[in-house]
Amino acid sequence: MTKNHKAQIISAPQRKGGVGKSTMICSLAGWLAKDGAKVCIIDTDPQKTCERWMEKQEIGVSVLYLDNDELLAPSVQKLSADFDVIFIDTAGYKSAMAMYAIALSDLVLIPSKASEPDAEGAIRTWNHVKSIGITSAKKARSYIVFTDVDKTAKITQVVKDAISAEGAEFLEKPLWSRTGFKEMHSHGGLPSGSALTALREFIGSLQISGLIDFYNIERATQNG
Ligand SMILES: Nc1ncnc2c1ncn2[C@@H]1O[C@H](COP(=O)(O)OP(=O)(O)OP(=O)(O)O)[C@@H](O)[C@H]1O
Ligand SMILES: [Mg+2]
Repeated sequence: MTKNHKAQIISAPQRKGGVGKSTMICSLAGWLAKDGAKVCIIDTDPQKTCERWMEKQEIGVSVLYLDNDELLAPSVQKLSADFDVIFIDTAGYKSAMAMYAIALSDLVLIPSKASEPDAEGAIRTWNHVKSIGITSAKKARSYIVFTDVDKTAKITQVVKDAISAEGAEFLEKPLWSRTGFKEMHSHGGLPSGSALTALREFIGSLQISGLIDFYNIERATQNG
């Protein structure tokens, strides 16, 4: 990493709670750290889900808890030189903190479970991200990500159609519903068993889409 290296900023806002924001962030952060990336999570949710996960793991992810929205931008700016990836976890409601997190992001992954209320929240968050993109200099790439999806659930296609009808984009590969994603909050670290396989597949799809800068830089270095 060079001195002027700038971290990729990834947030996972959703105005609806309990959609899998913190689980996705901890999983991605853990996987990237395992692959050698320098990873920081800025946990802005008073529930401190990410901070509590981090305290139980030794995978090398740094977590900073921040409850003052005015300090988010300066903190990101300061940390940006020292990390490859900075995740920002936000509480599940519309807030100034979530707005700042979106405005600072390079990539916005909007989690949604495969239910109508969750998709409604995801679409409204998508529109929020687009509005911020119009008014700010930095335009994040943004996608809805399906989380906790049961392979047999028929609702999923209905939800996908509703999202497409609104002009929002989603990633084809979901984070499948696996018990390991629940257990990881108790033991810290990466999820185990079939949840780890689901996570590997999800990260693979992000890599193929070129969405994670750390892997793009790694590939470019290997090729040249
Ligand atoms: N892929 C998954 N498979 C199984 N369970 C999951 C998955 N993703 C999330 N969960 C479970 O769903 C619940 C909510 O997840 P999580 O706390 O990550 O959501 P959140 O959006 O961060 O919630 P909040 O709005 O309260 O911050 C947790 O019990 C978590 O273990
Ligand atoms: Mg959370």
